[in-house]
Amino acid sequence: MRHLIDPTDLTVEETERIIALAEEIIADRAAFSEVCKGKKLATLFYEPSTRTRLSFTSAMLELGGQVIGFSDANSSSVSKGETVADTVRVIRCFADIIAMRHYKEGAPLVASQYAGIPVINAGDGSHAHPTQTLTDLLTIKREKGRFDHMTIGFCGDLKFGRTVHSLLKALSRYEGIEAILISPEELRLPDYMLQELRSNSKIRFREVRTMEEVMPELDVLYMTRVQKERFLDEEEFDRVKNSFVLDPSKLVSAKKDMIVLHPLPRVNEITRAVDNDPRAAYFRQVENGKFVRMALIYTLLRWADENKPFERTPVFGADYVVNELECQNRRCISASEDVDRLFVRGDDGVCRCAYCEAKAK
Ligand code: CP
Repeated sequence: MRHLIDPTDLTVEETERIIALAEEIIADRAAFSEVCKGKKLATLFYEPSTRTRLSFTSAMLELGGQVIGFSDANSSSVSKGETVADTVRVIRCFADIIAMRHYKEGAPLVASQYAGIPVINAGDGSHAHPTQTLTDLLTIKREKGRFDHMTIGFCGDLKFGRTVHSLLKALSRYEGIEAILISPEELRLPDYMLQELRSNSKIRFREVRTMEEVMPELDVLYMTRVQKERFLDEEEFDRVKNSFVLDPSKLVSAKKDMIVLHPLPRVNEITRAVDNDPRAAYFRQVENGKFVRMALIYTLLRWADENKPFERTPVFGADYVVNELECQNRRCISASEDVDRLFVRGDDGVCRCAYCEAKAK
C-alpha cells in the first residue's frame, strides 16, 4: 500500500509523473470527470485549514468521487479520547483513501500503519506538508519551466514552516539548486533539516538575515507566515512576528522574471500592494493545488488497486530501532499516544524519530 507521508515517499520520477498528470488534467478536465466514480475520500482535519481541505474536497468531486470527514476533531470521537490508530481503523470501513491533517508530528505516519487504505499527509505539526510541495512544484514548473538550476530564497519562519521543510527535501534532489535561508536566529531551520542539507552533495545553501541583500539573485522567493500557533512562548512570537515584510519597494531590485510564492494564509508578510505585481504567483499557486491533488488521489487509488509496492520509501525501508529510545519532541505523536517508538539510525550514527525526525533523548 502506497501512502504520501513525506515528499521523498515519491521518487523523483513518480513526483514528475504526478506533476505531468496534473498538467494533463488542466488541459482536459472533462477526460477525468469520472475516473474516481464510486470512490470516497475521507478528510480528517484535526487542525484548521482552508486551502488544503477544500482543494482535496474539490479535487475528489471533480474526479467523480465523494467526500466524507470532519474539519473539527471536537465533533468526532477524538474528543472522547480515540487514538489516531483506532480512528483510521474505523474510517477504512467507510472510505477508500484518507487525507489527514494533525497538530501532532508523525500522526499521518501512525495512520498509515493501521489504515489499510492510502493515507495522505495534509500537514503534520511543523514537520511536513508534502501536498503543498506538489502544489509548489507544479507552480514552479508552470511559471519557470524547470525544477533545476535555480536560486530560491526561503523567507520567514523556517523553524515551524512545514511547507519549507518539505519543499527543500524535494528540491534537494535536483541539480543546481541554491537555497538561501532568510530568517531571524530564532526561526532558523530545525537541526534535522540543516543536517540533511549539509549531508546532501547536490544542494548548496547559505543563511542570511535580510531579504534585501539577496533579492537580485533570486529566481523564486518563497515567503512564509510566522506560525503563531506553534510558539510555546508568546513573548518570543512578539519579538519575531514582524521580521520580514515584502512590499513593492523591496521588489525593485528583483529579477523581472522572479516569482513570489507563499503557501498562504498570509498575515502581514506580503503587503496587499504586491498582489498586483505579475511576479506574485501565490494565488495561481492555490489553484494548482487542486489539480495536483486530483492527480495524486487518482494515482494513489490506482496504485492501491494494483497493490503497487513501495519502490523507495526511506522511513518504511529503514531498519528501525524499536522501543529502545524516546523522542525529545513534545509535539511528536509518540509523546501523547501509545505507539511503538521507532527510530532510524542515520549515516552519522544519530538516531532520529521516525515520526518527527527529532533526535532521540
Ligand atoms: N497552505 C495551506 O496548507 O493552507 P491551509 O492551512 O489553509 O490548508
